[in-house]
Amino acid sequence: MNRGLLFFAAGLLAALGIGWMGFPRMLYERIDQPLQFSHRVHTSEKVGLKCDDCHAFRSDGSFAGIPSVSKCAECHAAPLTASADEKLLVEKYIVPGEEIPWRVYSRQPDNTYFSHLFHVRQARLKCDECHGSHGSSESLREFQRNRLSGYSRDIWGQNIAGFSRGMKMTECSRCHAARGRSDACLDCHK
Ligand code: HEC
Ligand code: HEC
Ligand code: HEC
Ligand code: HEC
Ligand code: HEC
Repeated sequence: MNRGLLFFAAGLLAALGIGWMGFPRMLYERIDQPLQFSHRVHTSEKVGLKCDDCHAFRSDGSFAGIPSVSKCAECHAAPLTASADEKLLVEKYIVPGEEIPWRVYSRQPDNTYFSHLFHVRQARLKCDECHGSHGSSESLREFQRNRLSGYSRDIWGQNIAGFSRGMKMTECSRCHAARGRSDACLDCHK
C-alpha cells in the first residue's frame, strides 16, 4: 500500500471516529435535574414508601405523575440529614412553596397519547417494563434534550450505535403486536 493511501485511510478513520462520538454530543444538550433524588433511599426499609405513595392514580383514573413538593414537605419540613440536596429542597422549594421543575426522561411529544391507566391498571404491566430500573435508582442522570426536536433522548430509542433505550413508536407497537392489540395511528396520536 502506498503512503498516500495509508494517510488517507488513517484520516478517514479519525474523521469517522470523531463523527461517531461527536455527533450525539452536539445533538444533545445535557441538563442537570434541579436536585438529586434517590428512589433507593425512599423505598428502603428505613423510609418504607411504596411507588404509589408518591405516584398515585387520581379518583378519575388519571395518573398523578411526579408528586408535588407538598408530598416532600410531609417529611422534610426541616432537614433530616446533612445532604446539600436536601438543604436545597427545603430552602428553595419547600419553604417558599415552589414546585420542583423535574425533567421527565420519558416525556412524549404533545401529539402522542399515552395513559398509565390502560397499562398499569388494566394490563397490569410493571413499571420496570417501560422505565427500566429508575424506581430503584440511587441518583438522577443528566437529562439529554435533542436540540432539533426538543425531545428527551430517551424516547428517541435507537441511537447510532444501534442499542435501544426507550419508548420509541416502534417499541410501543412491538408490544401491542405481541399482545394482539390493534395498532391504528389514532390510538396513539391526536
Ligand atoms: C418519595 C416519593 C417517591 C417514591 C416513593 C417513588 N418515587 Fe418515583 N419519582 C419521584 C420523584 C420526585 C420523581 C422525579 C425525579 C426523578 O425523575 O426521579 C420521580 C420519578 C419517577 C419516574 C419518572 C421517570 C421519567 O421518565 O422521568 C419513574 C418511572 C418513577 N419515579 C418510578 C418509581 C417507582 C417504580 C417507584 C417504586 C419502586 C417510585 N417511583 C417511588 C418520587 C417518588
Ligand atoms: C415518608 C417521609 C419522606 C417523604 C415523603 C420524602 N422523604 Fe426524602 N427522606 C426521608 C428520610 C427519612 C430521609 C433520610 C434517609 C437517610 O437517613 O439516609 C430522606 C432523605 C432525602 C434526601 C437526602 C439525600 C438522600 O437521598 O439521602 C433528599 C434530597 C430527599 N430526601 C428528597 C426528597 C424529595 C424531593 C421528596 C419529595 C418528592 C421526599 N424526599 C419525600 C423521608 C421522606
Ligand atoms: C407501557 C409503558 C409504561 C409503564 C408500564 C409505566 N409507564 Fe410511566 N410513563 C410511560 C410513558 C410513555 C410516559 C410519558 C408520558 C407522556 O409524556 O405523556 C411515562 C411517564 C411517567 C412519569 C412521569 C410523569 C408523567 O408525566 O406522567 C412517571 C412518574 C411514571 N411514568 C411512573 C410510572 C410508574 C410508577 C409506573 C408503574 C406503576 C409506570 N410509570 C409504568 C410509560 C410507562
Ligand atoms: C410492554 C407492553 C406495552 C408497551 C411497551 C406499550 N403498550 Fe400500550 N398497551 C399495552 C396493552 C396490553 C394494552 C391494552 C390494555 C387494556 O385495555 O387492557 C395497551 C393499550 C394502549 C392504548 C389504549 C388504546 C387501545 O385501543 O389499545 C394506547 C393509546 C396505548 N396502549 C399507547 C401506548 C403508547 C403510546 C406506548 C409507547 C409510548 C405504549 N402504549 C407502549 C401494552 C403496551
Ligand atoms: C402504539 C402507539 C403508536 C401508534 C399505533 C402509532 N404511533 Fe406514531 N408515535 C408514537 C410515539 C410514542 C411517538 C413518539 C416517539 C417516537 O418518535 O418514536 C410517535 C411519533 C410519531 C411521529 C413523529 C411525531 C413528532 O412530533 O416527532 C409521527 C409522524 C408518527 N408517530 C406517525 C404515526 C402514523 C402515521 C401512525 C399510523 C401508521 C402511527 N404514528 C402510529 C406512538 C404510536
